[in-house]
Amino acid sequence: MPTKHLAAKVKKAVIPVAGLGTRILPASKSVPKEMLPVVDKPLIQYIVEECLACGIEEIILVTRQGKEAIENHFDTDFELETILEQKGKRENLTVVRKIVQMMNIISVRQKKPLGLGHAILCAKPLIFNEPFAVLLPDDLVDSQIPCIGQLIQIYQDIKEPVVAVEKVPTEEIYRYGVVIPEPVRDNLFKAKGFIEKPDPEEAPSDLGVIGRYILTPEIFDILEHIPLGKGGELQLTDALNRFAQMNGVYAYLFEGKRYDAGDKLGYLKANVVYGLKHPKLKRDFNNFLKEVVK
Ligand code: UTP
Repeated sequence: MPTKHLAAKVKKAVIPVAGLGTRILPASKSVPKEMLPVVDKPLIQYIVEECLACGIEEIILVTRQGKEAIENHFDTDFELETILEQKGKRENLTVVRKIVQMMNIISVRQKKPLGLGHAILCAKPLIFNEPFAVLLPDDLVDSQIPCIGQLIQIYQDIKEPVVAVEKVPTEEIYRYGVVIPEPVRDNLFKAKGFIEKPDPEEAPSDLGVIGRYILTPEIFDILEHIPLGKGGELQLTDALNRFAQMNGVYAYLFEGKRYDAGDKLGYLKANVVYGLKHPKLKRDFNNFLKEVVK
């Protein structure tokens, strides 16, 4: 493993979007799931806005064929802008231009769907000797301080990789990477290891990893050397497990509520919760829901 001397600030975020999105089919058949809207914005925009709010300066999308709509969303659409300008639709024009100006976005392709660990490894040439954030766009986190900002604060204190975890009911634990925890202080644990998708009786805790991480480049060396894991995929959890055994990895029980918008029920829940918070829609939507429940 290389010696550290890492850049102190987390300036880059890797957002893997090369997955197949089978859990939300048929919606994701020809539309990337990251482009599915929650209320009035595609999922990916929430994630980019979260990065922007936390001082991230550059985004690396790990993408694949058929996902071009994601890059287009953050690019200028001259025709649309011209028409909006001609029609005097100033408010729409501002919204559309703001998206383009948001962030410097670079993309790299994952040429085979070999799993999340492999997707992260594809970003290696674009990460230097610096810590970086990873955000999975399925996971929307409703919180006071953006979830990745909470992890950045922890990273700045401990200078070791940190992953966000939530408490998971026993019957759902088999869907998560689960931490073997050693308490450090309120809501912070040192991970003695991680187990990917354990059977409930083998789960070492109820702390499941969600899609927010701060990692350091040592993870790439590990990903390059570990074998394929569950499902024949290069598992990020396996790499984190190896990392935790050699070095420090921390798990932080973040403040907030996470919605898995890559899953049908989670997606519906996210739309309801974000609809009830939308400045222009919340009152009418709230009234509508009351009527429906009646
Ligand atoms: P998921 O486990 O949600 O897989 O990936 P998926 O393929 O996107 O969706 P389902 O489970 O079939 O419905 C977690 C994250 O890792 C990315 C996905 O895009 C998602 O952001 N990923 C996964 C890749 O980039 N490449 C892969 O090979 C696998």
